[in-house]
Amino acid sequence: MGLLTGKKLLVTGVLTDGSIAFHVARLAQEEGAQVVLTSFGRQFRLTQVIARRLPVEAPVVQLDVTDADDLAALADRVREAGVDRLDGVVHSIGFAPQSVMGGNFLAGEWADVSTALEVSAYSLKSLAVAAQPLLTEGGSVVGLTFDAKFAWPVYDWMGVAKAAFESTARYLARDLGPSGVRVNLVSAGPIRTTAAKSIPGFETMESRWSDRAPLGWDVTDPEPAARAVAALLSDWFPATTGEIVHVDGGVHAMGQ
Ligand SMILES: NC(=O)c1ccc[n+]([C@@H]2O[C@H](COP(=O)([O-])OP(=O)(O)OC[C@H]3O[C@@H](n4cnc5c(N)ncnc54)[C@H](O)[C@@H]3O)[C@@H](O)[C@H]2O)c1
Repeated sequence: MGLLTGKKLLVTGVLTDGSIAFHVARLAQEEGAQVVLTSFGRQFRLTQVIARRLPVEAPVVQLDVTDADDLAALADRVREAGVDRLDGVVHSIGFAPQSVMGGNFLAGEWADVSTALEVSAYSLKSLAVAAQPLLTEGGSVVGLTFDAKFAWPVYDWMGVAKAAFESTARYLARDLGPSGVRVNLVSAGPIRTTAAKSIPGFETMESRWSDRAPLGWDVTDPEPAARAVAALLSDWFPATTGEIVHVDGGVHAMGQ
């Protein structure tokens, strides 16, 4: 029996086969789960193509997390894709305009900062609430963060968005816990995905990571983060919520 046998999961954020979410979906299927993906806009066709590279081709439903109509229609669209309830939801979404990253912290303007906060932080609440009608037997919501305790080089307002994201996860854990829904995050080290490569100067974040990590770190390998997401989706963390599991080779625990 697999770790996720019988689980029905909604996985956002599959853009390429390098996306962390792609590896979550792949591992989840390998461990026995049924998976539905989401995508939106011009990326939708690409996600459909990538979905064919999974062990089992997954249906893709439309969801822009900033679109009220998409959010309102989400539960029906998942049902139309043949899934009548959910046991887990993966938030693997992040975006900030380049103008608020790459060393532009002091120049960051609210219009762009607010986009970063809406897509990358508030969306965790939007997604969880939209999926709530399907989480009828409790479940697990898991998101991806980049350690928001520190001011990193070049991460700038995306770092502030991640701080808001981490706080949002704690409040969701408080409010969804009575329904049996757990909310946890995986704090991953740098991985060379599309989102990461869109951060101007991302190399400065990844270059020293493997030296500082007691376990070492491979920026080309999304599997460790994906495995932790799968574990948090499983029944093996039944009393854990509001938690952040670091999958960073140990960097978060080092003084230097
Ligand atoms: N790559 C890293 O170094 C790293 C490290 C820690 C955390 N993370 C986090 O992991 C998550 C996944 O990112 P990734 O690195 O796999 O990159 P990615 O580019 O493959 O995935 C980002 C996803 O966000 C989606 N997205 C953007 N705006 C959206 C919107 N309005 N509605 C719905 N979806 C939207 C994109 O379609 C894309 O699929 C993000 O939250 C990211 O911040 C990444």
